[in-house]
Amino acid sequence: MAQGDLRSLDVRDQRVVVRVDFNVPLNKSFEVTDDTRIRAAIPTLKYLMDQGAKIILLSHLGRPLAKRLPDGEIDRQKFTLKHVVPTLSDLLGKQVAFYPDILGEEVGQKVNDLQPGDILLLENTRFYAGEEKGDPGLAKQMAMLGSVYVNDAFGTAHRAHASTAVIADHFDAQHKAFGFLMQKELDNAQKVLDKPQHPFIAILGGAKVSDKIELINALLDKADSLIIGGGMAYTFIKAQDGDVGKSLVEEDKIELARELLAKAAKQGKKILLPADSIAADRFAPDAQYKNVPSHEIPTDWMGLDIGLTARFEYADHLEGAGTIIWNGPMGVFEMDAFSHGTRAIAEAVAEATKNGAFSLIGGGDSVAAIEQAGLADAVSFISTGGGAMLELLEGKILPGVKAIQGD
Ligand code: 3PG
Ligand code: MG
Repeated sequence: MAQGDLRSLDVRDQRVVVRVDFNVPLNKSFEVTDDTRIRAAIPTLKYLMDQGAKIILLSHLGRPLAKRLPDGEIDRQKFTLKHVVPTLSDLLGKQVAFYPDILGEEVGQKVNDLQPGDILLLENTRFYAGEEKGDPGLAKQMAMLGSVYVNDAFGTAHRAHASTAVIADHFDAQHKAFGFLMQKELDNAQKVLDKPQHPFIAILGGAKVSDKIELINALLDKADSLIIGGGMAYTFIKAQDGDVGKSLVEEDKIELARELLAKAAKQGKKILLPADSIAADRFAPDAQYKNVPSHEIPTDWMGLDIGLTARFEYADHLEGAGTIIWNGPMGVFEMDAFSHGTRAIAEAVAEATKNGAFSLIGGGDSVAAIEQAGLADAVSFISTGGGAMLELLEGKILPGVKAIQGD
C-alpha cells in the first residue's frame, strides 16, 4: 500500500494523534457558523473510532498570538477550541471530551484514561508560541501524546508548524498517515495538475495580483486559458493603458501584469479580462453604480464587479470546458449589488460541470460564493483549503504533506 495510507496502519487500541483543521468561523456567541471543515474530518474520525483507536485531536483556531487582549494575554475565551465541541459531538453522534491544555500531567492522565473509540480534543495548538515557529521541543512533546500520527489538516498543510509538520519526524512510515480528507484533497489537486481534460480553464479572482502571481505563472504552463476577475483585473487593465478610475490597482505590479500578458500571448494561451465592469461611486453596499467598459472607468469611480458583457463572455468561454479550477471571487460579492458577476460564474461552472467538466473550487471566498449561490452540490470538488490549495496548485510541496510522505 502507498506510503501515507491510513488503512495500512494498525491503530487498534493505539493512541492516535490526529491533526485536524477546525479553524472554523464563529459568531459573537462563539457558535460555529460554517461546519464544513469539521464535517470534512468526520470520515477519518469515524474510521478510527470503528477501528478501536484512542483518538487525541489537535487543531488551531484563528491567530491567538497575533490577536491578543489589550494587556498582552491570549484571549482564551475567544480562541478556545471548546467552541467546536457541540458541533463535533453532533456530527460524530458521540460526546467528545475536551481538555483546555495540550501538555502537562493532567493531559497525560486524560490520554491514559481513553478507551478504544474515545475522542479527546485538546486546546488550541497556537496557544503555545512554539507551534507557529515549528519548535522541535514542542513537537516532541506533542508526539509523546500518541504512538500513531494522522494528518488530516489540509487547510493548514502549507504551514511548517509543530503540530502539522515537525511532529511527524517522531513517527516512522508504519506509524503515520494522511487522513482521508487530506488524501482526497491531494488526489483532486493531482488530477487537475497531472492529467487535466482539455480545455483546462482557470478562473482567478480576488483583490490582489500579488497573491496570485505564482499561480498564474504555474497555470500558464498547464491551463489553456485564464479568466480574470475581481480587483486584480484592474492591474492588468491598467497594464493595457486602460483608464480604471479609482479601481484597486497595485502600481508596483503593472509591469509584471504586462509581462504575464506577453508570456501568455507567446505561449498561445488566452488571458481573458473583463470587457466591462460594474463601477461604483464609492466602496459601499448602497453606492451608485453603472455598467461601463473596463478600460473606460470614469475618474472618480471604481470597478467592483465584472460587467454584463464579461459575464456573458466568461460563461460562453466556460461552455465545453474539460477542467475548471476557480480561486477568488469576480467582485465584492459580500455586497449584494456587486455579487452578480461571481454568481454568474458560479452558475456557469455548475453548468459546465453538468456537461462533463471536472471543477475544483479552492479558496475561502470562492467556496463561500458557491455556497451562497446554492451550487455546492453542482461542482466536482470543493477544497477545505484556501492558502494550502493555492500553494498546491502553484506546484509547491506542502510541509504537512512532505512530513508524512517524504520528498
Ligand atoms: C486557514 O484557515 O487559512 C488555515 O486554517 C490556516 O490558518 P492560517 O492562515 O492562520 O495559518
Ligand atoms: Mg489562511
